[in-house]
Amino acid sequence: MIATIRPAHKLEGAITVPGDKSISHRALILGAIASGDSHVRGLSPGADVQSTAQCLRALGVEIGDSNIAGRGMRGLHASASSLDCGNSGTTMRLLAGLLAAQEFESELTGDESLSRRPMDRVVQPLLRMGARASWPPLRVGGQPKLEGFEYTAQVPSAQVKSAILLAGLYAAGETAVVEPVKTRDHTEVMLGAMGAEVKVDGPRVAVSRTERLEPIDIAVPGDFSSAAFWLVAGGLVEAADIRLLGVGVNPTRTGLADLLTSIGFRIGRARPRFEAGEAVADLHVTPAGELRPVRVEGGMAAEMIDELPVLAVAATQIAGTSVIAGAGELRVKESNRLAAMEAGLAAMGADIVTQDDGWVITGPRRLEGARVDSAGDHRIAMALAVAGFIADGKTEIDGAECVEISYPGFFDHLEYLC
Ligand code: S3P
Repeated sequence: MIATIRPAHKLEGAITVPGDKSISHRALILGAIASGDSHVRGLSPGADVQSTAQCLRALGVEIGDSNIAGRGMRGLHASASSLDCGNSGTTMRLLAGLLAAQEFESELTGDESLSRRPMDRVVQPLLRMGARASWPPLRVGGQPKLEGFEYTAQVPSAQVKSAILLAGLYAAGETAVVEPVKTRDHTEVMLGAMGAEVKVDGPRVAVSRTERLEPIDIAVPGDFSSAAFWLVAGGLVEAADIRLLGVGVNPTRTGLADLLTSIGFRIGRARPRFEAGEAVADLHVTPAGELRPVRVEGGMAAEMIDELPVLAVAATQIAGTSVIAGAGELRVKESNRLAAMEAGLAAMGADIVTQDDGWVITGPRRLEGARVDSAGDHRIAMALAVAGFIADGKTEIDGAECVEISYPGFFDHLEYLC
């Protein structure tokens, strides 16, 4: 599908972005091994979370619209065929951790993009726990006597951390992950809410063997990573007044909002509250004041890893040179996001140079509408749509159907806000 984006002179209204993708995956997976029925409202409607639900169904779990019939820690059964994780790295990596600890073997497959993504980052630690694990193709399980250990993260990755913690629920003794750079903590938060013994001590998070998880009852907050497109768009469009209702504002996720505020964006928060240990608030964005260049360095990229493509769009509008570094992980996401954003923004007239681990972007540049490619990557498609709002003329995005991965209603929200 080609999406045509026209300049947006105003963006106004209140919207509820889809349920958080990361929390939705975890609610399904942990709900599946809880002792009893979990109630999860507002699950992400995106294709990635559907992939997790389908894999769990193949493992014998009954999942309704907002109900997960937990089968207990040992209640999963082998799937008759390989588990199709679609485009979803979170599905593949988290399930690899859970399934490595089962008595049966599982094979996990994915689409072309997922088949190219690195899985040795989960295989290696699982082997060190005594599990059977190999890749490619990814096969885990069949040797359930795991040993706890302490793992120092080699790359900042909540997916890898979560895979190890999930395996750790079944391992003898304590399993710990030490993160030199902190990543999103939804797994730890949810495990705690479900009664598991989770110890967090600075950069170290540990779990012990767990016999029983209590079911969870949660209304999944809106996905901050989806809200991010409107935070940037609202700041850059001439007349904007956007309210984003019930967004997850877990501090391990909101690095982009803090950064944008520090350079001159106007982002307000209202009605702060908690939902099963997760912080939630309404966000309000209006046009930004004068903007200062962006500098992302050191561990900062991990706090906003999924938001960096749309941050690059903001950088094209800022006077001076913005530097986004420490983001080499972007090369191994659903697409090579460093290359995909450079191609799209350069085609629209931006001054953007890709480096080893990020971009150098010099602005401000008036963007020109162009025909650009999503690279089959949902976050690229939506970031380029935001570029299209502030460009002159028409922007056409090839392969825009991929927004379905995390934000099926994106183009409806766009129409509503315009
Ligand atoms: C996710 C973690 C991040 C992120 C992805 C979702 C998660 O990946 O990019 O969209 O839910 O744990 P990494 O942890 O591999 O960086």
